[in-house]
Amino acid sequence: MRFDIRKFEQTTSTNDDARVAGEAGAPAGTVIWAVRQSAGRGRRGRQWESPEGNLYGSVVLRPAGGRSVYGLYAFVAALAIFETVAGLLPEAKIELKWPNDVLAGGKKISGVLLESGGDFLIMGIGINVRHCPENPLYPVTSLAAEMPAAPPVEDVLNRLLGHIGYWDDILTREGFAPLRQRWLAHARKGAMRVRLPNEEIAGEFADLDENGHLHLLLPDKTTRVITAGDVFF
Ligand code: BTN
Repeated sequence: MRFDIRKFEQTTSTNDDARVAGEAGAPAGTVIWAVRQSAGRGRRGRQWESPEGNLYGSVVLRPAGGRSVYGLYAFVAALAIFETVAGLLPEAKIELKWPNDVLAGGKKISGVLLESGGDFLIMGIGINVRHCPENPLYPVTSLAAEMPAAPPVEDVLNRLLGHIGYWDDILTREGFAPLRQRWLAHARKGAMRVRLPNEEIAGEFADLDENGHLHLLLPDKTTRVITAGDVFF
């Protein structure tokens, strides 16, 4: 995929600009990159604090498989961030947390917000490069906190796009299996709690299935399939 980066000093949310671009027919690979966001969004309507120094980018994608594969792009994003962070922090323990969080030393270092634009997909990614704005739900960290000198945000973006291109290509040509395998090899497993809109369930990681759903082994030895939720350790 060829990436066309459109840089802004400030915007509300790069996902908003990516939607406008997608609706105007922007090709796959169009990237909205902002230095700051005034109304950055997290998952489930949460706020994503966006001071200058971190990475805020949204990529317009037009998957050949159409809407049925949109959900699998959570794993393209997760693996691309994973490879980026692991490449920069070779000494650190980098893990994946279902579905698309990346943890450095057990702390959240990034976030992914996928939104559908109808006939296109918006992959919004935030990576904590220089700051770690407090998150009410999870402990957080940044590249700067984990290494002597964090690289410029633009370098992190270029690495990230390279990995997005790689995993998008694999998903398109070979399907989800290679992504599942790589994700499973680096996922944090074991005991976890999953928060759903109306309940919280405790269990043990059992599997990631071919649809990207989480299989949780419950204390009564039954398995529950989770399609959306927040995981806590
Ligand atoms: C999460 O809650 O973990 C997801 C956070 C996603 C943040 C990124 S920053 C770039 C893009 N623009 C947004 O408003 N959100 C995403």
